[in-house]
Amino acid sequence: MQIFGVDIGGSGIKGAPVDLDRGDLAQERHKVLTPHPATPEGVAGCVAEVVGHFDWQGPVGVTFPGVVTDGITRTAANVDKGWIDMDARALLAERIGRPVTILNDADAAGTAEMAFGAGRGRKGTVIVLTFGTGIGSAVFTDGLLVPNTELGHLELHGHDAEKRASTKAKEDEDLSWQHWAHRVQKYLRHVEMLFSPELFVIGGGVSRKADKFLSLIEGVRAEMVPAELQNNAGIVGAAMAASKSSVS
Ligand code: BGC
Repeated sequence: MQIFGVDIGGSGIKGAPVDLDRGDLAQERHKVLTPHPATPEGVAGCVAEVVGHFDWQGPVGVTFPGVVTDGITRTAANVDKGWIDMDARALLAERIGRPVTILNDADAAGTAEMAFGAGRGRKGTVIVLTFGTGIGSAVFTDGLLVPNTELGHLELHGHDAEKRASTKAKEDEDLSWQHWAHRVQKYLRHVEMLFSPELFVIGGGVSRKADKFLSLIEGVRAEMVPAELQNNAGIVGAAMAASKSSVS
């Protein structure tokens, strides 16, 4: 079975039909640049362009980089504040002309990793963290997601954690891998103190460079592994969520 997935990110909005049996893209994805400011109207136009690139008639799953409850976007840390308390599901469904399911980006990526990637078959508490413009989190217990956990906004030494330990912070402050790994280490120890997970899955674009920093992180008891689906986790997870809501 195939469902369309779209991932709204800080720099790009990308999508493709997803083969849900394989957990992989069924066709090469199409990407457009995220407009700045990333207003609801501007982003909805880009999502419609991505879907319109394909001859797609079915439901569409969409990720959003903020809290989403029942189709309503509730926060907007790294996108235009116009998204706060907006009926994003209705806006996107109207622009695309298809039924839409919308969920948090890290929840989508985590769901895909648990089904097809680094978390496959893993029981107990698993925390998937995505490092990018912000830090996203997806918390699972025996494979079941607790949505919208927002662990990127934990306060660490008086700072919003994602402002110190995201990959954007690394780039903005020109931090060495060593220096950035030290910040990530502090962050992971803090999350571990609160949740005692068995496994951390480290996602986001940086998962491709895990060899540069994962071995520098010490004093974390949980196993730490890089995500496996990398760039496509959000698209795959969005499609998985849409397939669940279209059968329920
Ligand atoms: C947002 C989260 C999102 C994460 C990654 C954070 O700033 O609050 O909802 O998952 O960034 O995009």
